[in-house]
Amino acid sequence: MEIIIQPDSETATAVATRIVTRLLREKPNAVLGLATGSTTLLLYGALTRTKLDWSKVTTFNLDEYVGLPPAHEQSYHNFMWENLFRHVNIRKKNVHIPDGVSRDIPKFCAGYEAQVRAAGGIDLQVLGIGTDGHIGFNEPTSSLTSRTRIKTLTRQTHKDNARFFGSTDKVPHHVITMGLGTIMEARQCLLLAFGAKKARAVAAAVEGPLASLNPASILQMHPNVRVCLDHAAAAKLKRADYYRRVFTNKPEWQRI
Ligand code: F6R
Repeated sequence: MEIIIQPDSETATAVATRIVTRLLREKPNAVLGLATGSTTLLLYGALTRTKLDWSKVTTFNLDEYVGLPPAHEQSYHNFMWENLFRHVNIRKKNVHIPDGVSRDIPKFCAGYEAQVRAAGGIDLQVLGIGTDGHIGFNEPTSSLTSRTRIKTLTRQTHKDNARFFGSTDKVPHHVITMGLGTIMEARQCLLLAFGAKKARAVAAAVEGPLASLNPASILQMHPNVRVCLDHAAAAKLKRADYYRRVFTNKPEWQRI
């Protein structure tokens, strides 16, 4: 894991933006795995301001709320189109987001996995992290080899996401999410986390034991993960000085 600590969320996002833009310039037909949530807003904003060609890019979103149709204001379909897709020249047929109103969820999930495989797998998976350590919506005790499936949100996530819905009782209890096994097959992962509220989850993911209680800790087993943090999200890392030293002293050819 490469831990990149920047003074604030803007500079951390600038590093993440360089990682994504470099990939899309080197591989115009790249397959991106995408997350939603407040953490990704700066990244998607920055990407819409770059002159990238998205015409050959394929995307797969991590998750969607069960029961929310694409047109719902809080659906992740709406989030993605509002914050990224409608600002770039991506083709609608290349965009994949789990169907929250699917009538046969297990069949939909198996089909989603097949679509990822048919696209050649994910080149770069963008991730946020929940305060309870989830990635995608793989909540604590998710199987470390799980695939796309329905999950129930924890009380903590339900409460955290109430800020988008105005009140807790409007937040759906169920989601469709790619599994930890699905995420682990991406060739590269890029996790972003900002703010003091994420510090505990980040420390558990990066330096804690590998355990289903800390779902993001599975990333310790991935050969190519970058974690872009602001100071506050990095505050509980024991080895922060070392991560800063690594980043500052990178050989020229490794610079981002
Ligand atoms: C949503 C997703 C989640 C979020 C996480 C953090 O697609 O994958 O894992 O990344 O809940 O959400 P924010 O960024 O809103 O704190």
